[in-house]
Amino acid sequence: MEQFENILTVKHLKKSYKTSSGAIDVLKDVNLELGNGVTAILGPNGAGKTTLIKIFTDLLNFEEGQVAYCGKELKTMTKKEKSQTFSLLSEGSRNLYYKLTPLENIKYFATLRGIPFDSIKEYSLNLLQKLNLYEKKSEMVENLSRGMQQKVAVVCALSMNTPVTFLDEPTLGLDMESSINLSKFLRSPEFTSNRSIIITSHDFSFIENTATQIYKLQGGMMIEKQEFGESDDTFIIRINHPDIDKINDDGLEIVDACGQYCTIKISVSSLRLGEEIHKLNDAGHEIVYVEAANQNITNFYLNKEP
Ligand SMILES: Nc1ncnc2c1ncn2[C@@H]1O[C@H](COP(=O)(O)OP(=O)(O)O)[C@@H](O)[C@H]1O
Ligand SMILES: [Mg+2]
Repeated sequence: MEQFENILTVKHLKKSYKTSSGAIDVLKDVNLELGNGVTAILGPNGAGKTTLIKIFTDLLNFEEGQVAYCGKELKTMTKKEKSQTFSLLSEGSRNLYYKLTPLENIKYFATLRGIPFDSIKEYSLNLLQKLNLYEKKSEMVENLSRGMQQKVAVVCALSMNTPVTFLDEPTLGLDMESSINLSKFLRSPEFTSNRSIIITSHDFSFIENTATQIYKLQGGMMIEKQEFGESDDTFIIRINHPDIDKINDDGLEIVDACGQYCTIKISVSSLRLGEEIHKLNDAGHEIVYVEAANQNITNFYLNKEP
């Protein structure tokens, strides 16, 4: 298991909303210790994931508890310190200016945070390249497809190059290839070794491919998924335009082959799944679908024993 040094610490966090029908206690006693790497937070609609992220990024106050970044309490950090420490992709809201190009958006949001654009320009261009958006960098955002806009919003959040980035539902509207590319990028050690990425998502396959720590927010408390990645799981992978001989030659276990698709099965630790997928891609297999056969995360989500 990877060693986490604490970047974000949350202790006994409480948050309630006052509504016309009384107060609702959303976060009752949240405790969390996050280090470098990618952490996923699961939970049904209304569990409080977005509330938690808004507290981290200082968009919401909380009543009780402590939130600290590298030992420093959020409440004692200046606005500038916070904007240079945390970046955010908000869920479902417009994260971009549609009348600006992707590059202009990045520049605009960097300026708002007091980050010199020149210091992140190369990094941003690299990100646009990695997520296949480089050719679109000077196109007005309103002319891009919904999925591309979502990718630009993700790039924009990551471009701020802050030590902590929150991505609230980043794969909404992304196609399979974009989702795999994003996962590949987020998992790459040169990206995650010195930063913490916190993702909320209902896309279990994306989480399985990407996260190194998984939590679930349930009943206002945080539950960590144990033993994740320590044992092998079975994954079902569908390949487009199969060359059966090549699949056999590569020693892959075929479950089903019909028409344009071939389905294979691999057994691998969840932590290694991303690598296996990239190996298959590199070997020329075009992957259209990946599914956890034993529903590891689904069972955790639904409180079922594996
Ligand atoms: N501004 C608000 N005022 C009152 N209730 C809110 C507000 N924002 C969120 N809530 C409530 O808090 C709960 C958690 O919401 P949210 O954090 O958005 O959950 P999630 O992101 O996990 O779906 C929900 O019951 C929601 O209705
Ligand atoms: Mg939400």
